[in-house]
Amino acid sequence: MKNITKEWFKDWSNEYDRTLGKVKRHHKLLELAVNSSSVKNGDKVLDIGCGTGLLSLKFLKKADCSITGIDNSKDMLSIFKDKIKKLSLEDKIICELGDAISLNLKKNSFDIVASTVTLHHVKDKYPTIKKIHDILKHEGRFVLGDINMDTTGKLTDTKRLLRILDYLKKELVLALNEGGIDTFKRMYDNGKKHILNDGEYCISFEQWKQLCKKAGFRKITVKPLPDFKWFKVLVAVK
Ligand SMILES: C[S@@+](CC[C@H](N)C(=O)[O-])C[C@H]1O[C@@H](n2cnc3c(N)ncnc32)[C@H](O)[C@@H]1O
Repeated sequence: MKNITKEWFKDWSNEYDRTLGKVKRHHKLLELAVNSSSVKNGDKVLDIGCGTGLLSLKFLKKADCSITGIDNSKDMLSIFKDKIKKLSLEDKIICELGDAISLNLKKNSFDIVASTVTLHHVKDKYPTIKKIHDILKHEGRFVLGDINMDTTGKLTDTKRLLRILDYLKKELVLALNEGGIDTFKRMYDNGKKHILNDGEYCISFEQWKQLCKKAGFRKITVKPLPDFKWFKVLVAVK
């Protein structure tokens, strides 16, 4: 079966950093994720859906940690790999092709598993959250940054549609103001995918929290992104 998300990011990869990458809110979300992670020197960090490396590079700004980045789009990874080479960070970052739905990493091996605006692409989320719990060390942290938008329910439910449009309205204004017309076009197309659950399956942070509890996480906190409260960061401790 054709993977809609892979096709989407293959097409977006060359424009990613000059569209979403230009939106200040996106950088603030990634910074909140890093600042909430309690990352310290020597930590081993896994970045799921690392894309062009925006989150991974912020982790390295904060601490002398080592990063493993995985992504299922070779086009997004190729941009990240060029940055790693240019910045001579080969000894700090490994990035490879990998899928969040089939994480095959050693148990108890990471201090932090982080993921920003990626895991909503996974339809059946619980198996991935369970795997994340398994690969974290004791006291390790799962850090998730995403939009707090519940897109579950029947596509024909108009209440659901209005709920999603409410979030998208704020996002689209921001995209146009901060990223210009190209960013707006991307986010507008993206919005349609959220409404139709076409490779985008966002849930609310209350739903993420329940999944983390079920997977065995002990302590879970959720913080809204100041000034952009429709985005949140969750930290769950193993
Ligand atoms: C919106 S981008 C986010 C990139 C980066 N985390 C950031 O915040 O800028 C989503 C990334 O997730 C990747 N992705 C989507 N579904 C995935 C999956 N099932 N497994 C691994 N990566 C996935 C895409 O290829 C893309 O690079």
